[in-house]
Amino acid sequence: MFSSLENLNRSLFEECPILANFISRLGRSAFFPPDIPEQAAEAKGKTFNATIGQITNGKGAILTLPSLKKCINVSNIDTALLYSPLLGIERLRNRWYEISQTNNVSGIAVSRPVVTVGLTHALFLVAELFVDAGSVVVLPKPSWGNYFHIFQKNRGADVIFGQAYKGKEWNLYMYEESVKGVAKGVPIRVVVNFPSNPGGTNLSLEERREFIASLKRVADKHPLLVICDDAYEGFVYDSSPEASIFWQLLGIHDNLFPIKVDGFTKFLSFFGGRVGFITFPLDPSSLAVKALENKLKFLLRSSVGSPVAIAQEIAAEVLDSDSWEVEKLKLIQELKVRWEKLQRELGCLDSSIVEVKKCNSGCFTLLELKGTLKGKAEYLRKLLLAKEVGLISVDDSFLRIAFSSIEVEDIEPMVKIISEVCDRYV
Ligand SMILES: Cc1ncc(COP(=O)(O)O)c(C=O)c1O
Repeated sequence: MFSSLENLNRSLFEECPILANFISRLGRSAFFPPDIPEQAAEAKGKTFNATIGQITNGKGAILTLPSLKKCINVSNIDTALLYSPLLGIERLRNRWYEISQTNNVSGIAVSRPVVTVGLTHALFLVAELFVDAGSVVVLPKPSWGNYFHIFQKNRGADVIFGQAYKGKEWNLYMYEESVKGVAKGVPIRVVVNFPSNPGGTNLSLEERREFIASLKRVADKHPLLVICDDAYEGFVYDSSPEASIFWQLLGIHDNLFPIKVDGFTKFLSFFGGRVGFITFPLDPSSLAVKALENKLKFLLRSSVGSPVAIAQEIAAEVLDSDSWEVEKLKLIQELKVRWEKLQRELGCLDSSIVEVKKCNSGCFTLLELKGTLKGKAEYLRKLLLAKEVGLISVDDSFLRIAFSSIEVEDIEPMVKIISEVCDRYV
């Protein structure tokens, strides 16, 4: 399709000039050469296909250990045990695309999702493509700690932390405030994560409008790459929108390029499966998508080889079943019961020393320590540990409670201990 790297880059930037602002050195040089996987793909279906080093019966079926086969209960065992195509198994890509399209209210075309090894890997690939040493990346504070590792430690970005909360509420102007000191025209990358980790915060429709208007003002001054980390998409317990904000960012500003990162880790509660996806706001048949897919193939092959076939095949079967949607609702309902109970119980905490951040979604609730407890998160965490309560301390003054891993009947006694420990050490 692309005769050379130059030809590929030309096609990409002609169709999608905004990306020239963000592309990293690695992203610019990434080019999947027509070597073994490409040649093997071309030979697929030929009578004598002696291309790729998988062990087969010569007709495409795997030869493997019967005891290994016995452990696997999917209908297409060959697809599960042979290599996945680099961009993912087509059946799964198509199915996830189809499911995601139900949220595509604008109808603006998006690419078919590229499969990755979990969401961390998806974020890492996006960072490899679009973040270089010195690139400006804005992250909420507090946010998932691995963002810093990916964007700053691994890719060398200049990370600006924005204040995620104002009081209990999400700070809707966080990104705009954070880039005030950045010269006009400098490209900005931001990570947007709703429902959030560690707060379990999801924006209401009204808040979304305000938030998006603020992002647009940033895009008036800077090319803006918005990485939507939708790890907890759909885990919503109030009337706020369940679908990712990504869908509302499509086509809203010429200077704003959203990317959707999602996957099955939480969505299907398939933590060990390691299935993630990257979706671009581009027509699936465009040359720009082909160019980005080519670059991703290069990055995938030179890092993890190919994504995990067996997990994709399991997920594809689940998503083709009649029952998964009802089962998913049941899972969300189970979390909602815990969430309700936890929010109720947290009402007993002394709000002058512990502020509960707005929590209406996800897997976590976040407590901010105030007054005399300010800065003592790690100290309190250790005290709580001694009383059999394990929480996560975040950024000196926050404690994160994962209600996703606490049974509902354990919530009341747990909060009682948290309350006692906080009161005692005021
Ligand atoms: C906000 C957020 N993004 C991404 C991830 C990573 O997901 P995965 O386990 O699929 O790599 C997590 C996992 O905890 C997360 O909380």
